[in-house]
Amino acid sequence: MIDVAESAGFQNQGILDIPLKVGKKVLGYSIVGTDDQIPDYVNDAVFIVTIGHIKDASLRIKLHQKIIDAGGTLATIIASTSHVSKHALIEEGSVIMHRAVVNADASIGRGCIINTFANIEHDANIGDYCHISTGAMVNGNCKVGNETFLGSQSVMVNGIEITAGCVIGAGSLIRRNITQKGIYSGNPTTLKIILP
Ligand SMILES: CC(C)(COP(=O)(O)OP(=O)(O)OC[C@H]1O[C@@H](n2cnc3c(N)ncnc32)[C@H](O)[C@@H]1OP(=O)(O)O)[C@@H](O)C(=O)NCCC(=O)NCCS
Repeated sequence: MIDVAESAGFQNQGILDIPLKVGKKVLGYSIVGTDDQIPDYVNDAVFIVTIGHIKDASLRIKLHQKIIDAGGTLATIIASTSHVSKHALIEEGSVIMHRAVVNADASIGRGCIINTFANIEHDANIGDYCHISTGAMVNGNCKVGNETFLGSQSVMVNGIEITAGCVIGAGSLIRRNITQKGIYSGNPTTLKIILP
């Protein structure tokens, strides 16, 4: 995330983390305080939440909300090496990582991670707080529900829909709509666990 933000022209003013880590450094940048100090920075900085998500987006959402409640602004970051169509929509707090592609008329909701080499094809729609992992292929007209995780190198066939809150394992091939919230994997993709 730091590397991608640098490539997009952001200047890192410091990192907030858990108390045990204050004073340490990440990629040469100091951990200057804890999340409780978010209000101290709202006037001088925009924020990036670097927590990822595989099985549960709740921590990422909680931190986004903490920043919003403090009056802060979430940065929307587009890596210099990615391609985002001028006809695509990227909402606040989302990060488009290196070499990802977001094609024409695609839309990406709030707080998403579109990871390295992921491909969001034309007219596809990614909900809020999704993580589309490295090299995943979301083909044209697909829809991914809020808070869904799509594993590395998964392929969604054109026009497929996945309901909110799902976890799709790495390397899955999704050829049928997924309407039940759960953990899925494999080729063809099958339900492993139903999620509440
Ligand atoms: C789907 C996933 C989250 C499941 O994790 P888990 O709940 O710990 O599941 P387990 O590893 O215990 O596996 C449960 C079963 O599902 C199968 N399975 C898990 N992931 C699978 C996958 N990606 N493809 C095919 N089968 C898979 C396992 O073989 C296992 O079956 P078994 O008990 O018969 O051996 C995890 O395997 C996965 O794919 N994570 C995504 C990794 C990724 O893409 N990271 C990118 C970050 S950018």
